[in-house]
Amino acid sequence: MVGPPGPSLAALEASARERLDAAVWDYLATASGDGHTHRWNVAAWPRVRLAPHNLVDVSGLDTRLSLLGHELAAPVLLAPTAAHGMFHPDGEAATARGAAAAGALWVAATLATLAVEDIGAATTSPWWFQVYVQRDRDFTIELAARAQKAGASALVLTADLPVVATRDNDRRDVLGAAAGAVYGNLAPLDLRALAAGAHRSQNPHLDPRVTWDDVSWLRSAQRLPVIVKGVLRADEALRAVDHGAAAVIVSNHGGRALDTTPATADALPAVVSAVADRVPVLVDGGIRRGLDVAKALVLGASAVLVGRPYVWGLAVDGSDGVRAVLDVLQRELETAMALLGAPTLADLTPDLLWDTPASR
Ligand SMILES: Cc1cc2nc3c(=O)[nH]c(=O)nc-3n(C[C@H](O)[C@H](O)[C@H](O)COP(=O)(O)O)c2cc1C
Repeated sequence: MVGPPGPSLAALEASARERLDAAVWDYLATASGDGHTHRWNVAAWPRVRLAPHNLVDVSGLDTRLSLLGHELAAPVLLAPTAAHGMFHPDGEAATARGAAAAGALWVAATLATLAVEDIGAATTSPWWFQVYVQRDRDFTIELAARAQKAGASALVLTADLPVVATRDNDRRDVLGAAAGAVYGNLAPLDLRALAAGAHRSQNPHLDPRVTWDDVSWLRSAQRLPVIVKGVLRADEALRAVDHGAAAVIVSNHGGRALDTTPATADALPAVVSAVADRVPVLVDGGIRRGLDVAKALVLGASAVLVGRPYVWGLAVDGSDGVRAVLDVLQRELETAMALLGAPTLADLTPDLLWDTPASR
């Protein structure tokens, strides 16, 4: 057990670090390049200053939202992260149970340890399937169809990683199967053959030839809605919408793709303004407090995703740890909403920003 709900996610991070093998910890914690973007992600949310409303009746706080046909308890989703078998023996099955216990939507990764059928069998809350388009396009579509059959309700196309980024501390290649660094979905592929002849910055799991046309292709080749993840530019958010994306996720891969891209909190407002409510805008990167969740919604996001934090919970206490992370964020979000004088998510509007254009 994690024990009584922790005071913050920082404590859980410290426990996870103690518990995990150093190489696995490094893989989880690492960012690309010199880690600038990851640090900026984490630092950007606290920089957003708030102007609360006082003397508002906040006795009935409501964090529920409707997102792409799902009724969710809170605007916090679990971002796709690879190979949960590295962090807990039950792998994604533990994550699925933790998400379900909190009524949260989670995103299973192409690079999951478990295959989509096992993920679907373990999941009773809604889930989406993250897609890295494989060089073998037929295989990619078959995998998406398998995910749909297993219960996934949307695909999340990751757009910001055509090649593997420079990551000094990613040693998954040497970790191997014993450490859970296996990819159940990709078992049918002969990755060594695929890798042969690839440039060394290319990873056999990633196809560097993916373009915007593939967003339309992925939409038309199977039945699930497609969400585009990894958008930072307002013009590309519009492009995603024009290519039929059901939602966009403002993300820089948790600082694990191109280093020195801006913090997602800084990129979010222009994307929100460009998309203008045509589809939901989600955001991830550096969210470590329920207060950060509130700020993301104040800046116009419909919901957030967290990556590293729930993996800390998974490493420390499996499904209970994942649930504990979601519970901490939920409780902190409710407290933030009460102190902001914003009893519902609809009350989290830009009016609550201290630094509005008018005050500058
Ligand atoms: C260990 C780890 C593995 C990840 N694997 C994937 C992946 O397979 N596909 C993907 O789209 N994003 C992946 N991401 C990025 C997350 O989906 C998310 O964008 C990021 O973790 C959010 O930032 P945060 O960790 O600061 O919350 C990974 C992130 C981490 C930390």
